[in-house]
Amino acid sequence: MARPAKALISKSALRHNFKVAQQLAPNSNNVAIIKANAYGHGAVVVAQILEQDVQAFGVACIEEALELRVAGINKPILLLEGFFSQEEVAIADKMNFWTMVENQQQLDWILTAQCSNSLKVWLKVDTGMHRLGVQPAEVESFYQQLHSSNNVDKAIVLTTHFASADESDSPSTKKQINLFTDIKQSLKASLNLGEDIVTSMANSAGILAWPQAHCDWNRPGFMLYGNSPLDRNTSNGDMLKPVMTLLSEIISLREVKSGEQVGYGGNWTAKRDSKIATVAIGYGDGYPRIAKNGTPTLVNGSVAPLAGRVSMDMITIDVTDIFDVKIGDEVTLWGNSLPVNEVAEHASTIGYEALTRMPLRTKRIIVD
Ligand SMILES: Cc1ncc(COP(=O)(O)O)c(C=O)c1O
Repeated sequence: MARPAKALISKSALRHNFKVAQQLAPNSNNVAIIKANAYGHGAVVVAQILEQDVQAFGVACIEEALELRVAGINKPILLLEGFFSQEEVAIADKMNFWTMVENQQQLDWILTAQCSNSLKVWLKVDTGMHRLGVQPAEVESFYQQLHSSNNVDKAIVLTTHFASADESDSPSTKKQINLFTDIKQSLKASLNLGEDIVTSMANSAGILAWPQAHCDWNRPGFMLYGNSPLDRNTSNGDMLKPVMTLLSEIISLREVKSGEQVGYGGNWTAKRDSKIATVAIGYGDGYPRIAKNGTPTLVNGSVAPLAGRVSMDMITIDVTDIFDVKIGDEVTLWGNSLPVNEVAEHASTIGYEALTRMPLRTKRIIVD
């Protein structure tokens, strides 16, 4: 018998969430963001499931892009942080990778390369996040140099990234949208190009809550995996379906007397005579070690709170109030009926991190 810890990955939920992104922004194309192993879900599998529907994929670096090409994914792949060295320009040229340009060095590498095809470039402008991107005053010069290079496709995408779009009604997002719109308009006026400038602003939060940020291209990430980056129950998040359901089983059961302690360090003390179930999942399987006592799990549809410190391969949960619990019963750690965001809150983190930290050790099983 195999160890029962596993992550079910639902094909239909993934396709459904992508459709939600399309329906919310029907005039936009989408780059599906599948960096960091598709937020822990498995980049190749996610790309295979979405490939027919998406226009392009987005990853953090060329190694992630190459993994997808080797697996037979043919759609364009956007390198969200651009090139890390000049050698990568030649690889992108050969492999049809698209790239962000966000600084002078990346621009120079492209302008001085010997490309056989014209590279698709996304010019990133810093409108307020202050992490990546050229300054608003530099946009025209960068755009012109790219536009007049034979190495670069003329349809350059002007793009930016939001710092706080997950906060509904955030004034800084409004500022970023207005600044980006002004930059686009003055670029268009000064270049007198004729054609419109292609743009991209929205990540998941932008798609879900900021319709004025929908552009030619959107870049959904977290929402594809069925969770909203926004405050609970706001703006369309309830349309999403969790893609990953993390499951395991009860492997041991015991009664503990009131006053007895459970687990490493004895950091949970029974306040009454209690029934404790041991579940075959731990921080070695991606369940956060920092999850506090009381973090919910589900056993036979009822909430069983975490009772004791998370070990590498096991957790202990309080099943005193659940009827007829047996060894072999299934336990849901997150997913259907138990949002990963809720579990992450008990571990002082966010759903993004909990999903992305899912290690290779945990079997991914593709369902429906
Ligand atoms: C440039 C860029 N676009 C889009 C995304 C996707 O963001 P989200 O997962 O919040 O949709 C990311 C993720 O960090 C990003 O860095």
